[in-house]
Formats: sequence, structure tokens, C-alpha cells
Amino acid sequence: MREDCPSATAMRVAMRRAAHQILDDPKIFDDPLALRILGLDNESASPSGQEVSDQTPIERGLRSFLAVRSRYAEDELHTAVRRSVHQYVVLGAGLDTFAFRNPYPEDVLHVFEVDHPNTQNWKRACLENASIPIPGTLTFSPVDFETRTLEEGLRETGFNSAGSAFFSWLGVTQYLSSEAVFSTLQFVASLPAGSTIVFDYTITPSLLNPVAREVFERLAHRVALAGEPFRSTFDPSRLKNRLQDMGFGQIEDLSRRELNGRYYQNRPDQLRDGGFARVMNARVF
Ligand SMILES: C[S@@+](CC[C@H](N)C(=O)[O-])C[C@H]1O[C@@H](n2cnc3c(N)ncnc32)[C@H](O)[C@@H]1O
Repeated sequence: MREDCPSATAMRVAMRRAAHQILDDPKIFDDPLALRILGLDNESASPSGQEVSDQTPIERGLRSFLAVRSRYAEDELHTAVRRSVHQYVVLGAGLDTFAFRNPYPEDVLHVFEVDHPNTQNWKRACLENASIPIPGTLTFSPVDFETRTLEEGLRETGFNSAGSAFFSWLGVTQYLSSEAVFSTLQFVASLPAGSTIVFDYTITPSLLNPVAREVFERLAHRVALAGEPFRSTFDPSRLKNRLQDMGFGQIEDLSRRELNGRYYQNRPDQLRDGGFARVMNARVF
């Protein structure tokens, strides 16, 4: 991402999560703060021409993927809490709002939001403008994945490496060098058993079917124009092998079809993930 400003893609993703709240029925990801953190409400988000109301097939497919990856990550987080995981690390948090809707008390779940310092400073301003208070159960951990290790950034802000943790990393691996991706994954793999990471990743374009490849190319063009070009794509089977080599013992790699089957069945509006990414769930044994 650009050195001198917050992430433009974080804003775009947040706009689509907000759009999901007002355009899609039923919602599969219910986020009562999605509009508010952007300074929007149902009325102000409605006018045509705004990105939030775009209903083209590519836009609907993308929005449904962004909604489903957040829903899946939070479903898995709640399962981890039931397994007595007490730390949640939101990597590349952008305008994710879980920390401000966290239903658990401090002794059950503490949240760490890790992000590039520029994006994190901007998020703090958005929160202030929207009068959303920062709860005591949240710690901000500024980290540029390309120049600092996650371990260092978390250690300095009170993360307990002797305890297990749940990590989400949504919409970020695409924008990082593969070195930064694997060093972050290696750190998670070094944590105690039960630690888990859910992340999405973009499939190597040569492995995509022509339709998905076309969508990939259009989006790659758009994000490059925004100053955040895609830098890493992955071959699913190689990525899975690499995670196993790192020490992850339980790995689930969800395809578009599996996500649609789980979350987008029998909808009158035919909303479904139409993208080119997958969601990985890897747990340390
Ligand atoms: C597409 S946004 C996704 C935000 C959020 N996860 C969501 O789903 O709304 C990408 C995020 O990755 C973060 N990011 C990109 N490059 C980064 C880097 N080198 N170090 C830390 N964060 C980075 C951006 O600041 C931004 O928050």
C-alpha cells in the first residue's frame, strides 16, 4: 500500500459490507456498525451512483464474498472461544467492527487489531467521528507486515504468546509479498495448540476458469489504480502443503462452491460468491 496514506481498499471493503446491510435480504453477515463507522446511515447510503448501491453481477459477487468471509471468520471465532481461546487478533483490520461489538467480557476474549499505522490512525479518526467508543477489551497493535514482524508488534502491546489465539486475516494476503505472508503464518504456527488462523487468498490466475480470471483481471486493475496492486497469489495445493510443513495440523480450504453451499443456499435473490479467492482455516495441533 502507499506509504503516505491509509488503505484505500480498506475503505472499499467497508463500503461493500455496509452495502450488504442495506441491499441484501437475508443478510448473511449482520454488522450493525458497518454503516455507522463510515458516517453513513440507511438514508445517506441509498442514493444511486454511490459504490454501496452498485448491483452489477461482478459487484454482487464481490460483495457476497466479502460478507461470507467475515461471517465465516466470526463463526469460527465463536467456536474457538468455546474451546477456551481468549485472544482474537484481527490482522489488517481495516474498518472491521468486531472489536466494537465484542459480546464477551475481558476475561473471555481480548481483541488485538493489527494494521498498518496509517490505516490504524485513520480508523481511530473514523471511530471518533462516528462516536464509537474504544472498548477496554481492545488493543491496537500497529505493524507494517513488510518491515516488522507480527511477533514483535504483538509482544510490545501485551499479547500472550504462551496462550492460544484465534487470528483472522481477511483481504490482506493479496497485497503482501509472499515473504511477509509466510513469516506471519510461521509465527501463528509457533503458538500453542488450538491457535487458529482464518484467511482468504487469491488463486494463481493461471488456475482460474476464464470467467473467474476475467473478474480477477478487472479487480487487479482497479486495486492497482488505487495504489494497492495484488502482489501474491497462491496455488491451493502448494499452500496447503506449506501450511502442513509449518506445523498446522488441521487445515480446511474452502472453495467458492463450499462457501455458497454453506451460506447462500436457496436465496430468492440468487446472491452467491462469484469470486476467485478461497478461505483457509488452519489450526495448530
Ligand atoms: C482490503 S483491506 C481489508 C481490511 C479488513 N480486513 C476488512 O476485511 O475489512 C486490506 C488491509 O490490509 C492492510 N495492509 C495492507 N498492507 C499492509 C502492510 N504492509 N502492513 C499492515 N497492514 C497492511 C491495510 O491497511 C488494510 O487494512
